[in-house]
Amino acid sequence: MKEFPLDFCPNTEGIFAYLNYLVPATRKQILDILIEGLKRMEYRGYDSAGVAFDISEETNNKSAIKLVKKRGKVKELEAALENQNGLSYTKEYDIHCGIAHTRWATHGEPNEVNSHPQRSDENNEFVVVHNGIITNYKDIKAFLEKKGFVFESETDTEVIAKLAKHVFDSDNHEGSFREIIEIVVQQLEGAFALVIMSTHFPGECVATRRGSPLVIGMKSKAKLCTDHIPVFYSKGIGLKQLNEKGDNRGYMAGLAPNRMFSESEYHTVGPEKEVEYFFASDASAIIGHTNQVIYLEDDDVAAVTKGCLTLHRIKRATLGEGGLNNDRKPNLQPSIRKVQTIQLELQQIMKGNYSTFMQKEIFEQPESVVNTMRGRVNFQENKVTLGGLKDYIAEIKRCRRLLFIACGTSFHSAVATRQLLEELTELPVMVELASDFLDRNTPVFRDDVCFFISQSGETADTLMALNYCKKRGALIVGITNTVGSTICRESHCGVHINAGPEIGVASTKAYTSQFISLVMFGLMMCDDRISMQERRKEIIQGLKKLPEQIKEVLAIDDEVKKLAEEMYKEKSLLVMGRGYNYATCLEGALKIKELTYMHSEGILAGELKHGPLALVDKAMPVLFIVTRDGVYSKCMNALQQVKARHGEPVIICNVDDTDTIAHANRHVTVPHTIDCLQGILTVIPMQLLSLHIATLKKCDVDCPRNLAKSVTVA
Ligand code: AGP
Repeated sequence: MKEFPLDFCPNTEGIFAYLNYLVPATRKQILDILIEGLKRMEYRGYDSAGVAFDISEETNNKSAIKLVKKRGKVKELEAALENQNGLSYTKEYDIHCGIAHTRWATHGEPNEVNSHPQRSDENNEFVVVHNGIITNYKDIKAFLEKKGFVFESETDTEVIAKLAKHVFDSDNHEGSFREIIEIVVQQLEGAFALVIMSTHFPGECVATRRGSPLVIGMKSKAKLCTDHIPVFYSKGIGLKQLNEKGDNRGYMAGLAPNRMFSESEYHTVGPEKEVEYFFASDASAIIGHTNQVIYLEDDDVAAVTKGCLTLHRIKRATLGEGGLNNDRKPNLQPSIRKVQTIQLELQQIMKGNYSTFMQKEIFEQPESVVNTMRGRVNFQENKVTLGGLKDYIAEIKRCRRLLFIACGTSFHSAVATRQLLEELTELPVMVELASDFLDRNTPVFRDDVCFFISQSGETADTLMALNYCKKRGALIVGITNTVGSTICRESHCGVHINAGPEIGVASTKAYTSQFISLVMFGLMMCDDRISMQERRKEIIQGLKKLPEQIKEVLAIDDEVKKLAEEMYKEKSLLVMGRGYNYATCLEGALKIKELTYMHSEGILAGELKHGPLALVDKAMPVLFIVTRDGVYSKCMNALQQVKARHGEPVIICNVDDTDTIAHANRHVTVPHTIDCLQGILTVIPMQLLSLHIATLKKCDVDCPRNLAKSVTVA
């Protein structure tokens, strides 16, 4: 099996939809499934939630949809659903569709009107849940207002539902649900994942995506027809045509599907027809129901009608749009979507006995680093094999330079390994923040190799930088933790870091696994260099000891907690170091900032006298990282400068380093490892410190204010 690309994708907001076809379920069971789906995605961060479900039973079988929306947590929505007058909760539905959403406010404040589902009109003829942003919503809104539509929310999403109604009405109600939505999505610009239901198409739903993940789970007791779903192609229609035509008549003619496959649907075979479909922006919402999923590609339109799932695309991508594909050939999208089996276990995304996901993830690191190396590092023969890269190593060795492009913590993993990669590959190495890289219109060439590091695999800036480099013909290497994510799929080759799901917004175990993945890449690049063999051997043996050494660091948790108790009322913390530990300073300061809302800065000790030293006095909290490596004496020199300004540094240093400890006001120690791996051990006390300070300050550890786990908006 190809190691990369892979499956499973997270998102900021949450979409969940459930469609049961000939699988009887009471309304209570259906609502419970919808609410449970939302709860599985709660950790992503949101400020309101809502559901839409069928209420034809209560309206004399006249097709009708009810919306229930609440500001606040899913449990408040759940309580609101329990108190709906006149609804039967025991009535069974053989066929039913319901959609649900957790919203993170972007357009308009978090309130019930702005929450999703958004609707087309007072009769809820079309209702939609949406992740992402519609950048041209103002133009569409103006167009629809001219047609007499009155908007009720401040959201960009409302235009989608209203445009669907407009298209439906303009075509004398003749088009299929899928055809209507195909027209709608062609008018939309921006990033989105959508699921839509309609009173005109009861028991059906349509879903689509562009730049925002969407996965469909399938479950049936009956046999399912195939392990893949073919994709139909339809001719497109542009916004220009929408504006020119004005009244929209004649759209359907422009969209008559150009059928290319005879086997067109995903359905059951044999006499039993019952099937359930789950649509979600995050596979974690689906795994409790089924492990059989398909990942939609950008511009796929999925439709379920009479229990059958079909996939359509408006048109094939062209080279101009998509650049080179994964074989570095012109990018014509594949014409099937494979049904994949997700490996994720439910318990992997549960908190267990830990008080927060972040704490769990910090303490998982002895195992997660093993999983990153499993089957890849042979400690007996000192060999490293990354299955997802091995066919590309010869090409990488011939490259002009290596570029590592990422954001936040993922960027820090590249800073942490840059020196080693320069040493092992003997190539120029550039380390870039994705946003800045794009701002500069950085020159990129065909013989560049560009690495995109991303835990989520969905970060908008990183993804845009990837597309930028791909269009210029560079080899694209993805380093992600998220199987099936967009970065995975858009890369020519890559490494899955195998850290396991990371739920806490603050990245911890993904960092140490990214770090190790990059070290493994460096080792693979020099396995035939005689002069490097001794160095390679010591690094590989260093990697072998890491899991046990991480356990030793985790054992000082109580000491770090005491430190946090002394520090948590401070306003600021400077984190200093240099060489291999500079990345720990940056990453440690980022953890402190995002979790505790304290000001914190990672400072390269070599830069102290060029400015930052002015900050140092008796009152300024300073944390200094000094380990026994090539820059030890330079670090000690900088430490003296801090002390000479009456600074009272807390030191992170190696166990038994009594000389260094003598200079500390307070200290914590970590085991000694080879220089280039030391950053993996020094970052853990920083992770623990930020966790404890955040807890003492009663901050939300897993969902820090203003932040989201996956930043899918640039
Ligand atoms: C880390 O604690 C942050 N939440 C953030 O900096 C994150 O690393 C960054 O947004 C990049 O995310 P990615 O790895 O999913 O691309």
